Amino acid sequence: MPAAQKANLKILIRSAAIGKRVREVAGEITKDFKGERVHLIGVLKGACIFLSDLVREINLDTSIDFIAVSSYGKGKESSGQVRVLKDLDSSIEGLNVILVEDILDTGLTLSYLLRVLRQRKPKSLRVAALLDKPSRRLRQVRGDYIGFTIPNEFVVGYGLDYGERYRNLKDVCILALPAE
Ligand code: IMP
Ligand code: MG
Repeated sequence: MPAAQKANLKILIRSAAIGKRVREVAGEITKDFKGERVHLIGVLKGACIFLSDLVREINLDTSIDFIAVSSYGKGKESSGQVRVLKDLDSSIEGLNVILVEDILDTGLTLSYLLRVLRQRKPKSLRVAALLDKPSRRLRQVRGDYIGFTIPNEFVVGYGLDYGERYRNLKDVCILALPAE
């Protein structure tokens, strides 16, 4: 990445720390669902990198699916409106579902998704999120497996974007933007 683009990025969580924590979270999941199958649902696109690393560290029978929702438009602020852009490929009835999110922020996306998925009668429904920004919460939701709790900063990298950019950064970085 050119230096000019890197100038407004500050590393918050290094790649090595992410890898270590992902292995720990996968270990918890493996322990909690011993002898069972888990069905991971990644929330596109932000969770794709976290899910890819997580699923490979889970030592159980697994399957994966993806759902895409829109709530943010192109910028940093939530519109509060959640829409399903791409639904699941298959039924989740009777499955141990783990919804995999990149970050829990206001909780609007998660509370909507939990409501939709619960209606489809999974055997169990849990939430894994790489990052949690609890200070921004507008809905009372919580993750069952959290990678890192972070302060109220806008972050990019390891799947998280700003206007679709920066998802490929290996570290999670704080993005400083000029005031709007
Ligand atoms: P919520 O509905 O406000 O909890 O928003 C969740 C979604 O907003 C996440 O899945 C992200 O796609 C996006 N989001 C929230 N905070 C950040 C951030 O700091 N960086 C990048 N995306 C974010
Ligand atoms: Mg997302």
